[in-house]
Amino acid sequence: MRILFTGGSGKAGRHVVAYLLEQGHRVLNVDRVPLDLAGVDNRIADITDAGQMYDVMHSLAGLDELEPGTGVPSFDAVVHFAAVPRILITSDNECYRVNTMGTYNVIDAAVKSGIRKVIFASSETTYGVCFADGERKPEYLPIDEDHPTTPEDSYALSKVCNEVTARGFQARFGVDIYGLRINNVIEPHEYAQDFPGYMADPGVRRRNIFAYIDARDLGQMVECCLHTDGLGYEVFNVSNDDHSVGLSSAELIERYYQGVPVKGEIGAAETFYANAKAKRMLGYQPAHSWRDVLG
Ligand SMILES: NC(=O)c1ccc[n+]([C@@H]2O[C@H](COP(=O)([O-])OP(=O)(O)OC[C@H]3O[C@@H](n4cnc5c(N)ncnc54)[C@H](O)[C@@H]3O)[C@@H](O)[C@H]2O)c1
Repeated sequence: MRILFTGGSGKAGRHVVAYLLEQGHRVLNVDRVPLDLAGVDNRIADITDAGQMYDVMHSLAGLDELEPGTGVPSFDAVVHFAAVPRILITSDNECYRVNTMGTYNVIDAAVKSGIRKVIFASSETTYGVCFADGERKPEYLPIDEDHPTTPEDSYALSKVCNEVTARGFQARFGVDIYGLRINNVIEPHEYAQDFPGYMADPGVRRRNIFAYIDARDLGQMVECCLHTDGLGYEVFNVSNDDHSVGLSSAELIERYYQGVPVKGEIGAAETFYANAKAKRMLGYQPAHSWRDVLG
């Protein structure tokens, strides 16, 4: 497929772009800074500028595409990751502005350019636990996509707003728009670097509901979305199968989630950030775990 990818130069995007290239896709990266990766062309552009987003949707993905002499081909899909990726980087209102206007502009330009598939990065923070003032427990475990999304912070609010925006464009244009409620993204080198600390002090993972998502498995998730057509608007939790700490589910519940209702059976090492919907509807099957590195 010919894919326009926003935010491909970032922490998550560069792994997902690499994964998509390995699957044989053509990728044009749209970002404020270039990604230095063989096989990827960059277009420096700002997602908050609607004109620039309309332009890039009709862009060549590289000089080689001039050769056939048949004009600019269409993109088959847009994957939208560009954002201010958490609170406390910019001012709160700037985070909200960039993320909401940027996402509106990207989806608007994509669907009005006839692109029939948009995949966008939402976030675990929509459930309100991650950036709560003090401790906020989930309303139930495991957290699935039906859990209320009532956050207090500007970043998570921007992601909830983006989900509403995406749902509206899907209703108006009838295209496929899938939102990914991504958990904490872990790059391969971060297992050896950070996870021993998580074993020693599991409480540092409470705000992530003790979950994580390997950056390569996030790539697989995007690939699953590219291959699955006809779902309309859907959101999916994206996580790995196990906790990011060495405690069992029973130990975590005893220590951190007393009084929180538990729905169904949870395996001893099974994530509290349910990925069953992605498995069922998309065939997602995460392949990595910190246990492969740390034993
Ligand atoms: N990293 C995580 O743990 C995590 C978890 C949940 C969701 N997400 C979401 O995943 C996406 C990627 O996150 P990340 O961790 O790779 O963030 P990142 O900051 O590393 O990458 C974001 C990229 O977007 C680009 N960008 C920012 N503003 C832009 C603008 N106005 N115009 C064009 N490009 C712009 C940046 O240059 C950067 O390359 C984001 O939407 C983020 O909210 C990330």
